[in-house]
Amino acid sequence: MSDPLPYVLILYYSRFGATRARAKRMAAGVEACRGIEARLRTVPPVSPTCEAVDPEIPAEGAVYASLDDLRHCAGLALGSPTRFGNMAAPLKHFVDTTSELWLGGTLVDKPATAFTSTSSLHGGQETTLISMLLPLLHHGMVYAGLPYSETALMATQGGGTPYGASHLAGQRSDRPLDEHERQLTFAQGKRLARLALALHHRAGAPA
Ligand SMILES: Cc1cc2nc3c(=O)[nH]c(=O)nc-3n(C[C@H](O)[C@H](O)[C@H](O)COP(=O)(O)O)c2cc1C
Repeated sequence: MSDPLPYVLILYYSRFGATRARAKRMAAGVEACRGIEARLRTVPPVSPTCEAVDPEIPAEGAVYASLDDLRHCAGLALGSPTRFGNMAAPLKHFVDTTSELWLGGTLVDKPATAFTSTSSLHGGQETTLISMLLPLLHHGMVYAGLPYSETALMATQGGGTPYGASHLAGQRSDRPLDEHERQLTFAQGKRLARLALALHHRAGAPA
């Protein structure tokens, strides 16, 4: 039997759906690269009383991520809506359960990126992306943003930053991805997949 394909884990939280739409677009970019798959996973909301209030399997959409999803990925895209210029608590909560992988150096040298969604144009897209970058660096991952060779970065009137793709979702979180945002999210997924494949094969090669 042939080995399973390596995969890029697209791990996101979305309350109103904007970040979920972006995650799907990123997956399309990943799957435009031959030899690698996208695996979409989400995280449950956290309760103010710290009780488990959600069923183990969500009613719709991506299933919840496990540490094994993260352990075995060839690359990682972290996605979160902006919450006061920062990543959302449910995603941070999951990230804070990854000490075991950090101690084992499991994610060292794997490529990673981040994406976000905001209601206002200058509402903290870059800071949110950087808030997600920080734990990725602690894990020893290789961060891949978006290069300006993606010409939509200069042209966009909505989201899109060199730190990663972003989306202006509007006050009701219902503004669809515009053409530049679609292009940039796809390009980011494809780039991450390319890097993941290259580093994955190199990790198996003799030093
Ligand atoms: C508690 C909270 C804080 C937020 N903080 C910001 C913010 O700092 N800047 C901003 O532009 N939007 C902010 N928003 C709006 C969300 O980032 C925005 O609606 C996002 O598109 C939601 O993504 P989702 O549809 O994937 O849940 C906030 C929303 C909530 C509920």
